[in-house]
Amino acid sequence: MDPVRNPYAPGAGQRPPELAGRDEQVAAFDVVLERVAHHRPERSLVLTGLRGVGKTVLLNALRGQAVRKGWGTGKLEARPDQSLRRPLSGALHQAVRELAHPEPEQADQVLGVIRSFAERQSGPDAKLRDRWSPGIDVPPVRGRADSGDIEIDLVELMNDVGGLAADLGKGVAVCIDEMQDLGPDDVSALCAACHEVSQSGLPVIVVGAGLPHLPAVLSASKSYSERLFSYQLIDRLSRAEADRALTAPAAEEGAAYDDDALAAMYAATGGYPYFIQAYGKTVWDLAPRSPITAADVAVAAPEAERELAVGFFGSRYERATPGERDYLRAMADTAGPDADAVGSVATADVAGVLGRKPQALSPARDALLKKGLIYSGERGRIAFTVPHFGRYLRGQV
Ligand SMILES: Nc1ncnc2c1ncn2[C@@H]1O[C@H](COP(=O)(O)OP(=O)(O)OP(=O)(O)O)[C@@H](O)[C@H]1O
Ligand SMILES: [Mg+2]
Repeated sequence: MDPVRNPYAPGAGQRPPELAGRDEQVAAFDVVLERVAHHRPERSLVLTGLRGVGKTVLLNALRGQAVRKGWGTGKLEARPDQSLRRPLSGALHQAVRELAHPEPEQADQVLGVIRSFAERQSGPDAKLRDRWSPGIDVPPVRGRADSGDIEIDLVELMNDVGGLAADLGKGVAVCIDEMQDLGPDDVSALCAACHEVSQSGLPVIVVGAGLPHLPAVLSASKSYSERLFSYQLIDRLSRAEADRALTAPAAEEGAAYDDDALAAMYAATGGYPYFIQAYGKTVWDLAPRSPITAADVAVAAPEAERELAVGFFGSRYERATPGERDYLRAMADTAGPDADAVGSVATADVAGVLGRKPQALSPARDALLKKGLIYSGERGRIAFTVPHFGRYLRGQV
């Protein structure tokens, strides 16, 4: 069918033509926004899930909801080995701009605090100080949020930003993607700041997104984090939701699927949003006409898998070194053909497959954890973060 009218959107963070199966989260977040704006106690939100389930897309959608309510919002993506200061100050700068406070002096005061927070660097980024500027054109407010202790500074910063929003009867939402990549000091400071802000009833909320072990990262840092955040597992779509993700955008273009085609699509994609978009896109391009049939899906499947092998699996596999790839393949062999991404394996069994001592493999395992290719939900066990990754690896020569 006409590729120009192809509605599907495979790609990291790509807004899908139909946000299927997330009505509950969207509705709940509206309640959170209203409650926070009215100084009601409310927990910050953390979305967790495997690669490609739609965390970034949902995070962006929630941010959009906050913007529509007139909130100030900002977003950052955490990176391993990067301090929170600069990305967070960028996000809060944006949020203050969006708040559009009618009295510029008030906003400038807070921007000055953000600037002093940003300019106070410590650790590995410190040497970059001279070449970097926060892009805030008001003078820094010295003595506020610049002690160098990230926990103290973050509390002061969030207080000031929250106060500004409270004056306006609005709120501030800070979105943090790939939150599992924050360093331990930053995680701990962020928890402390969220704790403080919620106790003082300030309208600031953090919305985080990350891999399935993110709750463990947070609770390892502060034991009260379980009460601080409301965790939402973002999962694959049910059959009905997956059907809607495919049929609603097609209907907009006057096209349809027959029932067998939808069943074949679900069998192939397992309801994982990235796979739905990738298959939807390829099947649309290759199908001769509407309605799309199961035979069309069968014809398109090899091409869709080729696209996924390059764009989804391959791009991640390439981040691993040869030794790490051996480890990944051993994981796939340990898990066996019936296990999907959710099935975890014992690290001891992986070591057994490789004929090595578990300790000898811990550098490879740690590197893969850091690269976000695997995660550990419970001690001594690991799993792929990428759905169907075991199948992809077993299919490789
Ligand atoms: N609710 C949904 N309905 C239909 N398609 C969706 C939905 N959510 C996400 N998608 C599609 O799935 C793909 C992956 O989405 P996204 O990048 O948000 O996943 P992610 O969980 O952030 O993955 P990663 O962990 O790799 O960052 C995109 O192509 C997006 O359009
Ligand atoms: Mg993402």
